[in-house]
Amino acid sequence: MTPTRPTVDFPAGPGLTARDPAFRDDPHPVYDRLRDERPVHHDADYGRFVVTRYRHVRQILRQRDFGADARKASAGSYMRRVAGTGVNEGSGDTAYAPPLVLSDDPDHRRLRLLLSKAFTPKAVEAMAAPVAEVAAELLDRMAGQSEIDFIADYAGPLPTRIIAAMMGIGREHVDDLKRWSEAILRGYDPDRDGVTHRALRDAYVAASRLFRETVETRRRAPGDDLISAMVRARDEADRLSDLEIISLCTQLLVAGNVTTTDLMGNGLNALLDAPAELEKLKQRPTLIESAIEEMLRFDCPITETARIAHTDGTLGGCPVTQGDTLTLSLAAANHDPAVFADPHRFDIERADNPHLGFGSGIHVCLGAPLARLEARIGMGAFLARFPQVNRADRAARRRDLPFFRGFEVLPVRLR
Ligand code: HEM
Repeated sequence: MTPTRPTVDFPAGPGLTARDPAFRDDPHPVYDRLRDERPVHHDADYGRFVVTRYRHVRQILRQRDFGADARKASAGSYMRRVAGTGVNEGSGDTAYAPPLVLSDDPDHRRLRLLLSKAFTPKAVEAMAAPVAEVAAELLDRMAGQSEIDFIADYAGPLPTRIIAAMMGIGREHVDDLKRWSEAILRGYDPDRDGVTHRALRDAYVAASRLFRETVETRRRAPGDDLISAMVRARDEADRLSDLEIISLCTQLLVAGNVTTTDLMGNGLNALLDAPAELEKLKQRPTLIESAIEEMLRFDCPITETARIAHTDGTLGGCPVTQGDTLTLSLAAANHDPAVFADPHRFDIERADNPHLGFGSGIHVCLGAPLARLEARIGMGAFLARFPQVNRADRAARRRDLPFFRGFEVLPVRLR
């Protein structure tokens, strides 16, 4: 008798997130099985379909039948649980402009175009010197220490200080910005409780207040910072409202902060797990660019994004109805053997690396050039200063949030 394959249950809900310790530690055994056996997995606990094959993920990201506006999701579906109808729900403030990443055309096209006028390649390139300066200052503070927390002492403060400098926001607000962006990020949680929701709302309100004051100041006295550029983009074409500028600033703060921290943290962790690759990078620092791309593939900071089906259809043999949420696993797609040879190997010289760490299609990460610049300069400077870096005895701890994958604590020995 031919043995029948046992029916295996797949995890669902929090079991498919970093809330589950085994999944948090290494999600790839589960992703591999899903990709092979159930590439479009109905996760009834969270009201979503989880998509794990590269081909499907990329196709959905680039196809207009799927949108990102959470308000178009069916009641009870995952996207509603995560994004709600507005983070200021219940604050008494009904004014809400959805973030760019949760907007559909034509709003998305208009907002993205205007933001691109402010967030230019030239503006990003101009940050190279400040990134190097902040990195050097943080590294100088480590002189004489034998052990640090790579997140708290380096990868955390670097992007916050840079995005604040880019926006022209004073150093005195940097700690607040960091706190607010973490509270907002914690709020994008399908299982958030009342306390988390209030913290999210308070952070959003406080950040909005600071951005509103800054917009008003810059209108009176423009500078050469990002907020002034957004004000100008508005005034010349009369198209970006104050609310839109504030929403864009909040998104840049959240999108540009923790993600870049996580890229560096996950990247250093991968290097410490693969000593031969670390050694190679130390010997040949020019490999830093392809090493950063491999970090983005191998352990990507945003593990998944989501889209709403705008029409009924079938995907990977699975019926999908208008309003359904599709969770697109960037992490699973980035380890798809159909696209990446030996996908679970961390290879800083990987030649063909079309990873989806920054997404794809119309919402592809607008801040990718800045993230790459910060990681290239930041990681390069750290490894040059502390080539003996190694794991400390104290254990590292990963964050337990659903889709922002990174470390809360990553202790390392410097010498
Ligand atoms: C390693 C760091 C980063 C990673 C991994 C990352 C990842 C992503 C991903 C996956 C998306 C697409 C989401 C989707 O399609 O639903 C995205 C969008 C976006 N990112 Fe990033 N990001 C990073 C850094 C940054 C930085 C530094 C900024 C700006 C300061 C930024 C600003 C944005 C914005 C504005 C969008 C929305 C674009 C749109 O909707 O058109 N990101 N990012």
